[in-house]
Amino acid sequence: MKAILLAGGLGSRLFPATKNISKQLLPIFDKPMVYYPLSLLMLAEIRDVLIITSPEDKNSFERMLGDGSHLGMRLEYAAQNVPNGIAKAFEIGADFIGSERVCLVLGDNLFYGDTVKPLMLKAKAAQLGATVFGYKVPDPQRYGVVAFDQSLNAISIEEKPSKPKSNFAVTGLYFYDQDVVSIAQSIVPSARGEYEITSINQAYLQAGQLSVELLDEDVTWFDAGTHESLREATNFVADTQRTECETIACLEVIAFQNSWISLNDLECIANSYPQSDYRQHLIETILNETPLL
Ligand code: G1P
Repeated sequence: MKAILLAGGLGSRLFPATKNISKQLLPIFDKPMVYYPLSLLMLAEIRDVLIITSPEDKNSFERMLGDGSHLGMRLEYAAQNVPNGIAKAFEIGADFIGSERVCLVLGDNLFYGDTVKPLMLKAKAAQLGATVFGYKVPDPQRYGVVAFDQSLNAISIEEKPSKPKSNFAVTGLYFYDQDVVSIAQSIVPSARGEYEITSINQAYLQAGQLSVELLDEDVTWFDAGTHESLREATNFVADTQRTECETIACLEVIAFQNSWISLNDLECIANSYPQSDYRQHLIETILNETPLL
């Protein structure tokens, strides 16, 4: 399975912080925002990722993450010249996707919780249809919203409805079968002029091919696309890392845990990094993995 990480868009809700820099390069506490969705794909054990950025920021992402070989991954880059909707990612990525199934993650989404990985692996294993993830929120108007019947079957998905039919937001993580590229080509722009990811999900729902997994209470999810949610996400990462003594979205450690890089590789990377809490986390991981003489 391949993945697309969508890090384009104008970031207009974060203006003026995004006046000269892509939203997904802004930090969530101690690391760039894009680390969080990229770490999620790594947890789903997906190694081939196309990162779609705005044309101006493509070089910055490439300089930051390179070809991914230091993580045992294959990273490619493409630009979205016109910010005309999430669904366009499948047109931009059509050659990259080829005839494979594909996961899409939005570059401003952060997921945290033990049950996320098994849910992703289940979605990844499904050969047919699409899987999306619902998360209970107090402000569903901000999101795609999924509603259910009494048997918890999804019955509707709407983009930013003024009168939401439920409190379940559709998060920015999607798994699709090979049909997604042709479905994306068939949808029309919404009233706000965007090719909506929700239109693709509606097509799968109408075909009876959409699974909606609800994220457990233990999961924390943020769409860090506003000043307030970015502040909340930053506080969450800072607090969780302090209380749990861990580093969320530490790409090199996940690559090592996935056996994509060796302990020696991890050590070389750590030695090349400047003194920082992030480097210290790599060193501690190496020490924990090194057998005592
Ligand atoms: C996008 C999608 C929306 C989804 C949200 C999740 O909204 O259009 O359906 O619920 O991401 O992060 P955006 O944040 O781009 O407005």
